[in-house]
Parts: sequence; C-alpha cells; structure tokens
Amino acid sequence: MVASGASAADALAAAADSFAAAGIETPRLDAEVLLSELSGIDRAALIADRDLTLEPAAARAFSEAVRRRIRREPVAYILGSKGFRHIELTVDRRVLVPRPETEMLVELALEVQPESVLEIGTGSGAIALAVADELPGCRITASDVSDGAIEVAAANANRLGLCERVEFLVGSLPVGAAGFDLILANLPYVPDSDGLPPEVGQWEPPEALFGGPDGTDVIASVLAGMGGAGVTAPVIGLEIGQGQGERVAAMLRAVGWSETEVRPDLAGIERLMVGRTS
Ligand SMILES: C[S@@+](CC[C@H](N)C(=O)[O-])C[C@H]1O[C@@H](n2cnc3c(N)ncnc32)[C@H](O)[C@@H]1O
Repeated sequence: MVASGASAADALAAAADSFAAAGIETPRLDAEVLLSELSGIDRAALIADRDLTLEPAAARAFSEAVRRRIRREPVAYILGSKGFRHIELTVDRRVLVPRPETEMLVELALEVQPESVLEIGTGSGAIALAVADELPGCRITASDVSDGAIEVAAANANRLGLCERVEFLVGSLPVGAAGFDLILANLPYVPDSDGLPPEVGQWEPPEALFGGPDGTDVIASVLAGMGGAGVTAPVIGLEIGQGQGERVAAMLRAVGWSETEVRPDLAGIERLMVGRTS
C-alpha cells in the first residue's frame, strides 16, 4: 500500500522491488510506466524529482495497479490501453495485447497501397485500424471468431472515428466476397506445448495464441477455406512464428500465392510471410 503523501521515488522503489520478487522481467520500467500513466506525471519528471509527492488518488490507483501487476497481469490490461503505430487502442482480456512486431503487417500495407484490405483475426482491431488511420483511401473488412474481440475492435473503431471505413464481422472469412487488394492476418501460431510467460499464458485469450501441435493449424484451416468463400487477393501477409516459414510458404503456394518471401523482425526471427500471385 502506497501511503498518501508518499514520495514518488519511494513508491517506485518499493514497487520495483515487489515486481522483481514476483519474477517480472522489467520491474523498474513497469513501475515507472504505471505510475506515470496513473498520476499523469511525466516519466522523466518522476525519475528526476526526488522530492515529488503523490496525490491521494494517484497513490491509491498505483497501489491497486501494483497489486494487479504482482499477479503478473499485463501492464496494458491494468491501464486498459496500448499504443500501436499512431493510434491508442482500448484493450482487455478479450483481446491479445498488440505486439510491436505486428506493425510489420501495417508496413506491408503501406508498401502495397491497397484500396481494399481483408484482415482475419483482428482482436483489438490493431492492424485494421492502423491501416485505416494511415491509408485514408482504404476500406477494410476485419473478422474475428471471438464475439468479445469484435466488440472491443468495433468500440476502438468508433472511438478513433474510423468506423465508416472499417467493417467488422464475427467469423473467419466473408462469404461470397469480391476480391481484395491485400489480405493481412496475425492468426494464432504458438505451438500447443510451448511454455509461455505468466503474462501471456495466464492472462491472454487462449484462442488468440495456440495453433495446434506445430502452431500452424489455424493458418492452414483459414487458407484452406479461402477458395470456397471466394476470398482472393494478389498479395497476402501473414505473421508467423519461429521455424514456421517453410511450412507456411508451402501452404501459400498450394493455394495460388506462388511467390513467397519471409521477412525477419528486429530480433532476427522470421516473422512476416508475404505471398504474391505471379
Ligand atoms: C494473435 S491474435 C491477433 C490479434 C490482432 N490482430 C493483433 O495482431 O494484435 C489472433 C486473433 O485471431 C482470432 N482467431 C482465431 N482463430 C480464428 C479464425 N479461424 N478466424 C478468424 N479469427 C480467428 C482470435 O480470436 C484472435 O483475436
């Protein structure tokens, strides 16, 4: 419990110690981000001003956030939001917390300059809404099998003023759809047996994570359903996991994207699979 009138420096030090004891990887950073967001005080000021004291409301909110974080709840769920590209998304346990490497799918859209995009597995709406934000002439259809995820994504679209150009549907593929210029998907690709940090394994939705024994079952089943649903595009971008490049490239070639390319993320892990029809 952080006492009202406590110094920010003491509150941060105590929280960072508790986080480290709970096994959190970035204890000091998490404490600073939480306190800065909840107090409205800039992180640099929190660090620089050792005499800064906390208002009662900020002290209470920070105590509650520390209690939640010790249980390994992700910082984004505690704060209820996450930045992605140039937009801020509301997030909760119904959706995966958007990851920085997923921005590679948005970068692909900027390269292709599509007028129409299908995003499959939209979660919080991160990819669809970032594309809509950055490509003002583009219309997007975004799907997810989770009702809860579509509720979160639609609320984000509304709040960001993007709902006129982004249409959401519960399910996997739009039926009888005309072709799109680009298909994007970050589908679940974690192998079922993979151990995950508590922040992921205990808090994020399992249907957003796991993709069968080798992680590629959901990707395979979505690709296999495209022909029957009439879903086509000259370019497709799929987020993939380590070691999945060759398998997913073969799946793409089998359904008509004959040119494939794997791009690594900043950690050098194969992350973005691009397929093109020739
Ligand atoms: C890895 S999360 C990605 C969420 C979001 N696009 C992002 O990048 O942050 C995968 C999402 O796909 C959804 N999903 C799982 N299987 C699906 C399927 N067969 N068709 C459509 N969406 C699916 C999950 O509900 C989840 O929201």
